Amino acid sequence: MNVWNILQNTAKDRTLAAPSILSGDFGYLSDSAKKAEQAGADLIHVDVMDGSFVPNITFGPDVVAALKKAVNIPLDVHLMISRPDKYAAKFIEAGADILTVHKESDHDVKKTLMEIKEMNAVPGVVINPDTEVNTVEDVLQYCSIVLVMSVFPGFGGQKFIIDVIKKIELLVNLRKKNNYNYLIEIDGGINEETSKKAIIAGADMLVAGTYVFKNQDLKIPIDSLKTPKINTTYA
Ligand code: DX5
Ligand code: ZN
Repeated sequence: MNVWNILQNTAKDRTLAAPSILSGDFGYLSDSAKKAEQAGADLIHVDVMDGSFVPNITFGPDVVAALKKAVNIPLDVHLMISRPDKYAAKFIEAGADILTVHKESDHDVKKTLMEIKEMNAVPGVVINPDTEVNTVEDVLQYCSIVLVMSVFPGFGGQKFIIDVIKKIELLVNLRKKNNYNYLIEIDGGINEETSKKAIIAGADMLVAGTYVFKNQDLKIPIDSLKTPKINTTYA
């Protein structure tokens, strides 16, 4: 089974936990990733920022390659960069299993998603808190993941924007109506309480940075993100 089938199958039973390495120890990133894996993380979320699309600079492909060597779980690489089309191949070569690209970046979203798929990585689109779902409706059929930002991208530790819950519900409905296949991921301000709201709305994958890494024992927050699906919305 490939990465996508494993994630899809797991998501039928429970939500997936994706700790964000942005809140790991930058001096020992591989160790932080390993600790998250040992504590039961399903994926490692890697926030790539270019200082142009967002006002912060983080990791390039070489860091992704180092993380790839450190863990066996998939790398969920979130590109917060101005030209994701120019760098997608480099991140996939480095070991990105999932590559999500912003609707708001300067590129042909459909083309980039198709290229990511052709390179055998899992493609996803990301929407900022002020971007509506209808702006990406025409590309949903090419998405294996739709990532809903619940903070404005750039930094960890921000407050969850509750309004985005509506978008999760809308994406659940659109998936059902059109027989689409994407998993719904949420990113930003996720903690024990906000995760519950996202799960009830239908989120399949939960990214959490501060909430996971501020704990000494990563297993406690990671376990709390892995919740059995009661009303399975993903079918
Ligand atoms: C924000 C990033 C998030 C960030 C989340 O730009 O995309 O992935 O790491 O951090 P927390 O969970 O602390 O809000
Ligand atoms: Zn992210």
